[in-house]
Amino acid sequence: VQVLSVASEMFPFVKTGGLGDVVGSLPVALRAEGVAVTTLLPGYPAVLDALEGPVRVAEMTPLPGVEVALLEGMAAGHRLLVVDSPALFRRKGNPYLGPDGVDWPDNGVRFATLSRVAATIAQGHVAACRPDLVLAHDWQSGLTAAYLHYDGQPAAPVIHTIHNIAFQGRFPARDLERFGLPPHAFAMDGVEYHGDIGFLKAGLHFATWITTVSPTYAREIQKPEWGMGLDGLLRSRSDRLVGILNGIDTDDWNPATDPAVLFPYQVGDFRARRPNKRAFQAEFGLRQDPDVFLLGLVSRLTGQKGVDILADVVPRILDDRTQLVVVGSGEAAMEQAFARLSRRFSDRLACHIGYSEQLGHRLQASADSLLIPSRFEPCGLTQLCASRYGCVPIASRVGGLADTIIDANAAAMACDAATGFLFFPTDPDTLVAAIERGGAMFRDPQRWTHLQRNGAHYDVSWRHKAREYAQLFRRVLGRNDAVSA
Ligand code: ADP
Ligand code: GLC
Repeated sequence: VQVLSVASEMFPFVKTGGLGDVVGSLPVALRAEGVAVTTLLPGYPAVLDALEGPVRVAEMTPLPGVEVALLEGMAAGHRLLVVDSPALFRRKGNPYLGPDGVDWPDNGVRFATLSRVAATIAQGHVAACRPDLVLAHDWQSGLTAAYLHYDGQPAAPVIHTIHNIAFQGRFPARDLERFGLPPHAFAMDGVEYHGDIGFLKAGLHFATWITTVSPTYAREIQKPEWGMGLDGLLRSRSDRLVGILNGIDTDDWNPATDPAVLFPYQVGDFRARRPNKRAFQAEFGLRQDPDVFLLGLVSRLTGQKGVDILADVVPRILDDRTQLVVVGSGEAAMEQAFARLSRRFSDRLACHIGYSEQLGHRLQASADSLLIPSRFEPCGLTQLCASRYGCVPIASRVGGLADTIIDANAAAMACDAATGFLFFPTDPDTLVAAIERGGAMFRDPQRWTHLQRNGAHYDVSWRHKAREYAQLFRRVLGRNDAVSA
């Protein structure tokens, strides 16, 4: 099976969050399932720089007045097709925001262009790539299925994957022509969404199948409380919606070979892990004490992640026996809140405000527990990394967190299955209570080691999940017979 994966970010070239990780690691896992993936990306400087021996395979005018070249090449072991448009994509830094932290004003045209190119490839017009199906990620590639619908030509089917329904890509109705859509597309059973053009809405309406990144999130987004306006549409398509959990790249996330880990250790060897905590406390200027309960946060600092709730309860959770290290960046108010707190509680709380892949890895190898107080979480990747690294997650029971963490309740402890602590709803008191439960268990080293060990046994790789994707692809293509057990 040949798949065209269409995305706005991909690790290791451009990443703002888990979307980039997934787009970068899923193709490798799919190879083992007999699926060959080509990834279509915008030609950001970092992507163009990474391309080895790029070949210009097509030139097109995807939208009125927009000219692009399509480049093909390998980069970091991936086969890429790159939409090269200096005017739209040759901008350094964040793929969505200008240096002022505000969305680029032409994001509509930028990602309509990406989607239009994807649709043209899906129609078989580019000899270098004739995919059997298209895997379109998030709102940025949402118009792909809409273009195919309005063109009415034979084309590869589209599976649209929702990584986060909070980001919907809404643009004013007056842009319809600029996006190269016919006037009748502006309708409820078209791209119209509350008087605007909705890229994600269009993708969900027209895709052959819809996936999202955990079974629980697949159920949640069909409810008004979680669907962010798209729950009705998703309910109407529930027979074509499935949740498949994310995995992580277990080569990147291997504490025995991870270059960011100061004292490498085998997965599951918690004794050999210990010196990392000491060194990490020193690195952040905290008291080096193995008995202190060292909490960590690696996260975008946004409302989704509930970090404002964490900031509010910091005075309640930090004491002589509890420290917190924060590695995060995001909304200015939250960055400032943590910076202020780290001055006020300088002996107990340390922050790295910014994005650091290295510190993220090192924290997972050092902290006792990882805090994930998300208000909603489609899948979440950090809890998977944490489990593998011996860092016990304390997380809200939402989305993929509910699917990948087993709470240390009495039954799970009795059958030695627990991997962490879950709380719900996401509010200050439940968070504090969960941290207190964690702290109490941490002070019972034998039981704590069970949590760590169960986590380390949990297969967080892509292996089984890639198989689920491959099975879905074959189902969509009517090649069920080819499914291996
Ligand atoms: P989301 O995609 O919603 O941000 P995920 O948990 O799926 O959440 O993925 C986040 C990814 O980004 C993880 O790989 C995590 O380690 C990483 N990450 C987030 N913030 C930072 C940061 N400030 N420094 C380093 N890595 C970060
Ligand atoms: C989104 C979600 C996150 C998920 C990631 C990758 O950014 O917020 O929960 O893990 O996409 O699918």
